[in-house]
Amino acid sequence: MRQVVTTTTGDVDVLKVEEKPDPKPGDGEVLIRVKASGLNFADILSRQGLYPDSPPKPCVMGYEISGVIEQVGKGVDQQLLGKAVVAMTRFGGQSDLVVVKARQMFEKPERLTFEQAAALPVNYLTAYALLVVMGSLHEGESVLIHNAGGGVGLAALDIAKKIGAVTYGTASPSKHRFLKERGLDYPIDYRNEDWSARLKELTKERGVDLILDPIGGAHWKKSYAALRHTGRLGMFGVSTASATGVSGKLKMVKAALQMPRFHPIALLNKNRGVFGLNLGHLWHEPEKVAGWMKAILGGVEEGWINPHVDRAFRFEEAGAAHRYLEERRNIGKVVLVP
Ligand SMILES: NC(=O)c1ccc[n+]([C@@H]2O[C@H](COP(=O)([O-])OP(=O)(O)OC[C@H]3O[C@@H](n4cnc5c(N)ncnc54)[C@H](OP(=O)(O)O)[C@@H]3O)[C@@H](O)[C@H]2O)c1
Repeated sequence: MRQVVTTTTGDVDVLKVEEKPDPKPGDGEVLIRVKASGLNFADILSRQGLYPDSPPKPCVMGYEISGVIEQVGKGVDQQLLGKAVVAMTRFGGQSDLVVVKARQMFEKPERLTFEQAAALPVNYLTAYALLVVMGSLHEGESVLIHNAGGGVGLAALDIAKKIGAVTYGTASPSKHRFLKERGLDYPIDYRNEDWSARLKELTKERGVDLILDPIGGAHWKKSYAALRHTGRLGMFGVSTASATGVSGKLKMVKAALQMPRFHPIALLNKNRGVFGLNLGHLWHEPEKVAGWMKAILGGVEEGWINPHVDRAFRFEEAGAAHRYLEERRNIGKVVLVP
């Protein structure tokens, strides 16, 4: 089989397609022939040497796949052979073949292509945990989704619209038209104007009930200040540090130094909440995650969850796919196909 290997830390030329022996499913496992594999911002940060959860290099990234079951191990229902599925993978998903525990996979919704199905797990589980589970977003409340045009951003928009919230979103201006069409109420051009001043104006100085912030560093402080009373801030990424080489390391140090400290008494007096999320640290909670995935698949069935795949790149084009995300050219998901 072939795999996309991040051979070492560096620029996109460190990504190589390499041949490896085919894996075999063990007890309770299945072998999946991959049709599409999700690319995530974590893969970029890993290549840049800025992702603490990255496996040691050389490594194969990939948290999610869709494909067809080709073999089943002992104790797994033979009738699963040939079934189309979507699965979460603890790395290694950017491969022709992947072995996963049978409980880590779900039936692929028929109305989604393989590429769309591979766009479900990371983006939608993250958005669901942020908005529904931890952010407790309610009908009539307001939410600010930073990077609303990205993979997690568009997933959050689908869920926030279903809840019936008023939606604000920051994004590069080229993405605003698309976002309006997807139902975003108030796009904000954070690249060319101060988003917090614009948000104040739009909310008549009140702020919003929930903010999803994957940018990190000093940005978290700014987001916290933009909350309404009883507002919550969900922190889940440090994309501000993204850069190759020494520049990335320096940006990460700067982001760490500028991160806010939240004092309990200040939270109490201001009626605010802050929380963090790392989906990659939830492997020991499979029942919870499976419950969220069930709700997401239900949303696909009902038609309010619609993963948007911007582009599919072949494994050999993984470098171009990384570049595409780094240059902020994506709207929604980028996937790799064998
Ligand atoms: N904690 C978790 O469990 C978890 C799970 C999934 C993702 N995340 C985090 O969520 C964020 C979004 O992830 P994603 O996979 O959905 O990626 P993405 O949002 O699809 O792609 C990146 C987008 O982020 C924006 N961006 C902001 N700062 C950027 C920078 N310095 N360099 C490049 N782009 C930047 C750009 O949109 P604009 O054009 O609008 O600037 C870009 O298009 C990342 O920080 C990621 O690490 C966290």
